[in-house]
Amino acid sequence: NQLSAKLLSGHTIPLVGLGTWKSAKGEVGAAVATALRQGYRHIDCARVYQNEHEVGEALEAVLAEGVVQRGEIFITSKLWNTDHEPARVEAACRKSMEDLRVSYLDLYLVHWPVTGNVGPEVQPPLEGTWAAMEALVDKGLVRSIGVSNFSTRKLERLMATARIKPAVVQVESHPYFRNESLRAWCSDRGIHLTAYSPLGSPDSAAMLRRAEDGPSLLKDPVVAEAAARLGRNAGQILIRWALQRGTSVLPKSVNPERIKSNLEVFDWEIPADMYEQLSNLAHQQRMVDGSFWINPAGPYRTLQDLWDE
Ligand code: A2P
Repeated sequence: NQLSAKLLSGHTIPLVGLGTWKSAKGEVGAAVATALRQGYRHIDCARVYQNEHEVGEALEAVLAEGVVQRGEIFITSKLWNTDHEPARVEAACRKSMEDLRVSYLDLYLVHWPVTGNVGPEVQPPLEGTWAAMEALVDKGLVRSIGVSNFSTRKLERLMATARIKPAVVQVESHPYFRNESLRAWCSDRGIHLTAYSPLGSPDSAAMLRRAEDGPSLLKDPVVAEAAARLGRNAGQILIRWALQRGTSVLPKSVNPERIKSNLEVFDWEIPADMYEQLSNLAHQQRMVDGSFWINPAGPYRTLQDLWDE
């Protein structure tokens, strides 16, 4: 019921994963249980989402029902900025594993190329953080490692000293912010790209402390026309577009109907002409622009420093 992609690590990643960023406590557990019962085999988590404990309860309950085995599901978590110090990495990973109630993670990502330190004090270099990530693979705590929110330049720097290449790069990607040069760069190197905020993250304004929501990708006329022509909803068009582009994709929902419909994307296609139209929308804008990391004292003084573009 799920397609998957092969990673550089030799493991496979199911292409549609349930996103859990912004899923509230009291809601996220039911969303995860619904998703797994509906056939989702990939759940995307992070320590900073502050809901891994509840995700873990739901995982344990669904595994106990016997609908699915641990080996059939793919669980991701992410190392938060304040744990970049190499000596802190393993404990951070173990804390996520404990909350998620798993004996290994399928994927552990460096969440941002940003340490918890603001200002001129010494930043733990990312190379050291990465070496500690590699040690998690050696110890069998995690199967694959990767990064999130990195530019190609930061990835190149990391790969210069990496013993284990990042298997996955998880970044914002949707028709209003395709992130195409990074996608092509990853594709050339066999690195798998996972698209977050595939629906344009319509609910992120408050979370990102922005005054208002950005333009609504779900209501874009090109998306609406494709949906009408194909007899699908806008969410399905955007998820299917991500799949046809060769990425995996993480739609977030806590609504049972939307969780179900977001997985109904495997037995039909967006025809080439519509795919091209969706791949060429002029409006391009990050929803998660990282401006919360910009600080005059460094290490990132401008968005240019952060994204290298
Ligand atoms: P809800 O959780 O109530 O379903 P993204 O994955 O880009 O961050 O978008 C997540 C947002 O989109 C959430 O507000 C979610 O709300 C909403 N959403 C999820 N699936 C759909 C869908 N198929 N159609 C419309 N909105 C959706």
